[in-house]
Amino acid sequence: MKASIRYFSGTGNSWRIASVCTDTFRSSGYETDLESIRRGWPPLPATDAACFCFPVYSLDLPRIASAYLRRLPPSERQVPAFLLVTGGDPDNCGWAIESGVRLLAERGYPVRIAELIQMPDNWTPFHSAPEPVAAERMTGRGVETARKLTERFLTGEMCVKPVSLRKFGRLGSMLLRVLFHRRGVFKLWQLFRVTGTCNGCGLCERACPTGSIRMQAGRPVWSITCEQCMRCLNYCPSRSITQLDFLLHGSSHRAYHYPGFTHRKDELPGLGENRS
Ligand SMILES: Cc1cc2nc3c(=O)[nH]c(=O)nc-3n(C[C@H](O)[C@H](O)[C@H](O)COP(=O)(O)O)c2cc1C
Ligand code: SF4
Ligand code: SF4
Repeated sequence: MKASIRYFSGTGNSWRIASVCTDTFRSSGYETDLESIRRGWPPLPATDAACFCFPVYSLDLPRIASAYLRRLPPSERQVPAFLLVTGGDPDNCGWAIESGVRLLAERGYPVRIAELIQMPDNWTPFHSAPEPVAAERMTGRGVETARKLTERFLTGEMCVKPVSLRKFGRLGSMLLRVLFHRRGVFKLWQLFRVTGTCNGCGLCERACPTGSIRMQAGRPVWSITCEQCMRCLNYCPSRSITQLDFLLHGSSHRAYHYPGFTHRKDELPGLGENRS
C-alpha cells in the first residue's frame, strides 16, 4: 500500500503536519512519498491514499495549492483523499477545506477526512507570533491531532470540517477572501520593503519557495508570483523585510517559523535533516 503526501509550507507548520502524517502511514506499513509542491510539480503517482497539507491564506487555500489540486491526474479508482489545513485560528479557516474538498472531488479523489489544525500564525506583519513557550504548546497539540487524524483516516472513518467563519461573520469573511484572493495576492508583493539593515546576504532569494525574489544591486526585489507565504520576512536574519508597516507594526513584530524547519529549498522535499 502506498500513501503520497503533498504539501506547501512557508514557515514549516504544514511541513511538520505533513511529516507526522507520513510517519504515521509508514508505521502502519505504508510505503510513503512526501514532497513539497512547486508550480505543477511533482505529479501525483498511482497511490492508495492521496494526502495534502496546506496553510490557510485569508480564509481559503493558497493559490499554488488550488492550482495543484485543479491539475491532479484524474483518479478513476476514486482514491481516498486526506486533507489537513493549518491555520492560526481554529474559527477562521473559512472556505479552505470546502475548496479543497470540492477540487479533489472534481478530480475523482473523494475526501475521507478534512480538518483544520491550529498552529502558530505566521502572518507576522499582522500578528506577532506567540511567545516560544506558547508556540511549542500549540505545535505539540497540532502534531498530536495530526497523528490521531491519520490513524482515523487509516481506520476508514469519515469526517469533514464544515466552513468556519466565526471570527468575521459571513459578510466580513467573504469580503476579506475576495480582497485577498482576487486582488490582494496579486498586489501585496509590491508592499514588501527592505530597511537599511539589509546586508544583501541573499537568503530571502535562495529561500523563496516560488522563486519570486531576485537580488538587484544587493537588495531583494519581489515579483507577482509571490504567494505571501511569509518565509522571506520570517527568516531574514536581520529582520529587514517589512510589509504594510506604514499601516501596522511591520518587522517590530516577533518572527515565526517552525523550529528546525529549513528554509533551504534543496532540503525541502524529503525529510532528511528536517526530521524531528
Ligand atoms: C497571507 C496569510 C494569510 C493567512 N490567513 C489565515 C486565515 O485566514 N485563517 C487562519 O486561521 N490562519 C491564517 N494564516 C495563518 C497561517 O495559515 C498559519 O500560520 C499556517 O500554519 C502557516 O503555515 P506554514 O508554516 O506551513 O506556512 C495566514 C497566514 C498568511 C501568511
Ligand atoms: S535575507 Fe534579509 S538581509 Fe538578507 S538580503 Fe534578504 S532582506 Fe537583506
Ligand atoms: S517572496 Fe517571500 S512571501 Fe512571497 S512566496 Fe517568496 S518567500 Fe513567500
